[in-house]
Amino acid sequence: MTSLFNRSDFPMLRRTVHGKPLVYLDSAATALKPSCVIDAMTHFYQTSYATVHRGAYELSLESSALFHEVREKVRAFLGAEDVSEIVFTRGTTEGINLVARSYGDSYIKAGDEIVISGQEHHANLVPWQLLCERVGATLKVITLKENGEWDLESASNIITPRTKLVAITHVSNVLGIMNPIQEVITLAHQVGAKVLVDAAQSAVHHPLDVKELNCDFLVFSAHKLYGPTGVGILYGKQECLEMMPPYQGGGDMIQTVSFEKTTYQAPPLRFEAGTPMIAEVIGLGPALDYLKGHSYGDLHEHEKRLINEVYSRLGSDIHVLGPKDQKGSLITFTVPGVHPLDLATMLDIQGIAMRSGHLCAQPLLNHFGLKEAIRLSVAPYNTLDEMVYFCDTFKKVISQLRPLS
Ligand SMILES: Cc1ncc(COP(=O)(O)O)c(C=O)c1O
Repeated sequence: MTSLFNRSDFPMLRRTVHGKPLVYLDSAATALKPSCVIDAMTHFYQTSYATVHRGAYELSLESSALFHEVREKVRAFLGAEDVSEIVFTRGTTEGINLVARSYGDSYIKAGDEIVISGQEHHANLVPWQLLCERVGATLKVITLKENGEWDLESASNIITPRTKLVAITHVSNVLGIMNPIQEVITLAHQVGAKVLVDAAQSAVHHPLDVKELNCDFLVFSAHKLYGPTGVGILYGKQECLEMMPPYQGGGDMIQTVSFEKTTYQAPPLRFEAGTPMIAEVIGLGPALDYLKGHSYGDLHEHEKRLINEVYSRLGSDIHVLGPKDQKGSLITFTVPGVHPLDLATMLDIQGIAMRSGHLCAQPLLNHFGLKEAIRLSVAPYNTLDEMVYFCDTFKKVISQLRPLS
């Protein structure tokens, strides 16, 4: 079985690590970039580079048009109503912090409650904790079943009229399972709470339709979606963004400025202070086109086959976190008697890149009685041969590590 994406589109796949061909199994952290993304950014820097929104000269008009085209592509990608609902951020983390600072500081008060789930990445936990500390609100957590799935009964108990905002992950970066966000969005809206969906792990694997989801905010990062680092998206319903004050002050986000009073642009520019990450936004355009060139169904099938190969070859050698049957593109596991960092280091020597540690989800690892684990995540550029190589190497490495422990 070959890869689904053309491997020659990804220059990084030509390199070796410690003298071995790179086997990149950390796409959930950040995905490799196809040449079309790299070339678009290089081309822009070499031929059309200028600032956006500010200049009346040809180059600036050109770069502003390219920048705007990508906003429209993102709107279409998310099924949003209008481009004004698409805010460029630096990434998922900044999108969440923007909502916590702007919406949170203005509309969440002492005594109010914010609900997250026990699965959250630190990026969808710490900003809400900080907000609660600033305004005197309380953070409530949807508890997890033993296998890590959300306990929906807990969700319906803790989402009450005191809840003002619910921030939940669509796909867990540790368990790789898709959460029943629709149920929780409905519960939240029944009590008048706003909902933010962390789509950092889902945007690249599942079609998203913000109107169908009816979420108030949704965030993701371009770099996990074959796009550049340093750019992300905050989708916000028009009525929500319009009621929010600026997050940062500076150029581009103002209408008029005087020493007495400044007036602000309408969204999305209100939230995009300063010279934006122009080349990175322009690189996101071909990343979305590249993804659109493949069906989500095919991507899912391919990734599932790769993961199933690991299951069938490693079987009970690994302890997988979370329900095994629902995995999409990643598995997190431990190996009895072997430290995850030792394992990752030994695999690296054989050219295999995998993430180990707390995976930015310490509370979730605690739920499984763990401090660290190791994660294998795949993308459509991975092949079955790579899975076989990983499994064989894993077995050799484990037999070397076990006598040491
Ligand atoms: C579920 C989830 N949320 C948030 C983030 C944070 O994304 P970024 O570091 O791109 O801001 C990640 C990144 O790993 C993630 O997996």
